[in-house]
Amino acid sequence: MIYQCPLCQSPLSFILEHKQLGCANNHRFDQAKQGYFNLLPVQRKKSKEPGDSKEMIAARESFLTANHYQPLAENLKVLIAELVLKHSKLLDIGCGEGYYSRQVNPNDHFISYGFDISKPAVIKAAKKHQTGSYSVASSEEMPFQSETIDAAFKVYAPVNELELHRIMKSGGYFINVTPAPRHLWQLREFIYEEVREHATQDTLFTGLEKMSSQQLSYQITPSPEDRLRLLDMTPFAWKANGDARRKISERHDLAIELDFLITVFKKP
Ligand SMILES: C[S@@+](CC[C@H](N)C(=O)[O-])C[C@H]1O[C@@H](n2cnc3c(N)ncnc32)[C@H](O)[C@@H]1O
Ligand SMILES: [Zn+2]
Repeated sequence: MIYQCPLCQSPLSFILEHKQLGCANNHRFDQAKQGYFNLLPVQRKKSKEPGDSKEMIAARESFLTANHYQPLAENLKVLIAELVLKHSKLLDIGCGEGYYSRQVNPNDHFISYGFDISKPAVIKAAKKHQTGSYSVASSEEMPFQSETIDAAFKVYAPVNELELHRIMKSGGYFINVTPAPRHLWQLREFIYEEVREHATQDTLFTGLEKMSSQQLSYQITPSPEDRLRLLDMTPFAWKANGDARRKISERHDLAIELDFLITVFKKP
C-alpha cells in the first residue's frame, strides 16, 4: 500500500473488514462503492465541488470516446512501455475520467494509480477501470508515500513540483503533456480576434532532469457536436459566446489542428 494519510502523512493500510484505509493515528477513509477513496479532507477543499464539473467531465468523456486523442494516448503508451518495467507503479496526475490510464495500460502490465480533485471525474475513472486504484485528491498534497512511484504522467493538469519530486522513486520518470504552439488553432480562431501561438518555453521541475521532448501534431475533423465538446474541454470555453458556438457547429467541415508537446523527465 503506497497511500499516505492526507491528515497526518502516516502510511495508510487497507482494513478489509471495514473497507477503509486507516493510519496509525486512527484517521479513516471509506472506500466508495465504485472502489475509489476520498483522500481530500474537507478542510483542504477550496470550494464545495473543486475541479472539473460533472458537465465538463461528460463533455470530455464523449469527446474522448470518439478517439480523437487516440494518437496521443498511443504515443504515451509506447513511451511508458519503453521507460518502465512490468509491475511498475504508474500514476496519472489529474486523471479526469481516466482515459489515458486505461489506454496506456490495457493489459495491466503496470499497477495503475490515478487521482483528480474532481469527484465526478474519479467516480467515472474508478467505474471504468476496476483494476486501477483511484482517489479524490489534490496535486498540491498528493496522498502517496515518498519515493513510491516509478512513473507519473499528466495530461493538461496542474502539479506541485515539490510533491511530484517527493513521491517519485529515484530513477523514476515523469511525462508531461502540454499544448504546443498550434494546438486547437482553428477553434481558437472563432474566439479570438488574433490567435497567438502557445508559448512553449521550457517548463522545468525542481530536482528532475529533462531527458527528451517531442512534438506530436495532427488534424482531426470532429462532428459539430464533438467540436462543441472539445470547446467545452478548453480553458477558453467561457469566452465563446452563443454566436461563436453557432458558427463552430454550423461550419460544414472543420479540420482542427492538435499540437502536443511530450516531455520526459527523470529523477536522478
Ligand atoms: C484539462 S483536465 C485533464 C484531465 C485528463 N488528464 C484528460 O486529459 O482527460 C484537468 C484535470 O485536472 C483536474 N484538477 C484541477 N486542479 C487539480 C488539483 N489541484 N489536483 C488534482 N487535479 C486537479 C481537473 O478536475 C481536471 O480533471
Ligand atoms: Zn492520519
